[in-house]
Amino acid sequence: MKSIVKSLLCVGLFAWNVQMQAKVNIIPKPSQVEELSGRFLLKNGMSIGISDESLAPAATYLQELLSKSTGFSIKTGGKAGKIQLNLVSPDEADESYILETGKKGVVISAHSYRGIINGIATLRQLLPPEIECDTKVQDVEWTVPAVRIQDRPNFHWRGLMLDPVRHFYSVEETKRLLDDMALYKLNKFHWHLTDDQAYRIEIKAYPALTSMGAWHPFNGLDRGCLERAGKENNAAFLIPRKYIREVDGQELYGGFYTQDEIREVVAYAAVRGIDVIPELDMPGHNSVACQCYTFLSCTNNGISPLCLGRETTLEFAQKVYKEVFQLFPYEYVSIGGDEVDRGRWAQCADCQQRIKQEGLKDVSELQAWFTKEMEKFFNANGRRILGWDEILEGGLSKTATVHWWRGDHTDVTQRATQMGNEVVLCPFTFCYFDYSQDNGTLRHIYDGDIVPTDLSAEQLKLIKGMQANIWGEWIPTVERMHWQVFPRALALAEKAWTPRADQQWEDFLPRLESHLPRLEARGIKYRPLQTNRP
Ligand code: ACM
Ligand code: ZN
Repeated sequence: MKSIVKSLLCVGLFAWNVQMQAKVNIIPKPSQVEELSGRFLLKNGMSIGISDESLAPAATYLQELLSKSTGFSIKTGGKAGKIQLNLVSPDEADESYILETGKKGVVISAHSYRGIINGIATLRQLLPPEIECDTKVQDVEWTVPAVRIQDRPNFHWRGLMLDPVRHFYSVEETKRLLDDMALYKLNKFHWHLTDDQAYRIEIKAYPALTSMGAWHPFNGLDRGCLERAGKENNAAFLIPRKYIREVDGQELYGGFYTQDEIREVVAYAAVRGIDVIPELDMPGHNSVACQCYTFLSCTNNGISPLCLGRETTLEFAQKVYKEVFQLFPYEYVSIGGDEVDRGRWAQCADCQQRIKQEGLKDVSELQAWFTKEMEKFFNANGRRILGWDEILEGGLSKTATVHWWRGDHTDVTQRATQMGNEVVLCPFTFCYFDYSQDNGTLRHIYDGDIVPTDLSAEQLKLIKGMQANIWGEWIPTVERMHWQVFPRALALAEKAWTPRADQQWEDFLPRLESHLPRLEARGIKYRPLQTNRP
């Protein structure tokens, strides 16, 4: 049914309905909106002007966005245009923007490239939802209501984490999610590229990680998804055939990103103002690496975690990350560090020797020693280290940033910020978008205190922001991903952008409802607000 609705929307039959509800309904809610009289009409042949050459990628991005659905030819390359992008008093760290629209045109002014991109997201939302269609839509009046919007984010870190390990998503599917993120001003894409089941990133120094480690016969998780597909009569749980290949008569499922493909995704994200934060999880969640290179595990038999007693493990970790640093130009890189089976180190002579030699108390301190060694290496390469909240155990350097994920460990943020560490919030109690939903989930997220309420003003300064995590175990297809992620990603976007005092469910809900046709136009198969399916 949804695909029929989508196709009707994209052939313009919903235009009347949309015109009726034309109103300023921006998500996340902007700081200040002044509704003026009049409107701007997009026309064939119009141009996008830029005040500074550094905005050229933003102009091209906007041109592509607008011309797909309108079918208009839109010019770029000049200093002045009907849509004008202006960089004023440049300041990279300032993401604010001012958007002014009226009969004569549109002006977006900002202090940074990202500010301009945020203004473009708002402009997209002022246009009819059909602007999001991939193909030309007839009979739509492409108007923008006259407004003056002044806007800035509350948090700098507004993210989504995607796990393409348990199930693979192609470069094109990943780019599509980046476009969805940009529409809602989500600016950090945390890419969880390795885990027990597979390595998804090409590492030239260790080619077996992907030649062997990116492919496997169906495992328990895959069979579980197939069972659910049957039991729930839901094709969104079927494993896509496009990710299965036959080798020596055996079907292998998987895929990986070449370094060129990684660069392509990073560049695509950059145009949309999104940083890509890679995570190659260490020292736990490494079964596949330990199977490909058996010297990595304490028992030489492919069982995770990495053996921290051996120099060859540190050499491996550093060589891998050296390649990662070349691919991802951003300050933050995640080491992971979650759910390590540290008990294995207690049985390993090499690990015990390391503990003795470094004067460590126990296996928790052994993990902390590894994280600190890696942090020195990250810092020497101009990077800052991030890790899941287990990196607090056994001691943490002040300059590491913590992802608070264990929602039942309610003291993590308090403890980390007391020590002076920065925190990104993603407690599973609100931010695990792979968890199943009921009709109360959206409101639970929107009304929830994702930012703990027991922090001092000084501690609050260390909260970088928040993100949602999309773990892939039960998400073998983009269709299932859409169901899990939308529309709750819009609630998360507002939690991260708009100050807490301005978050009101009664105000958010109708705005959200007005966005559903926009999601449909993007081909997003979101979970309806009321349904008996989880
Ligand atoms: C996690 O969910 N294991 C970070
Ligand atoms: Zn060991």
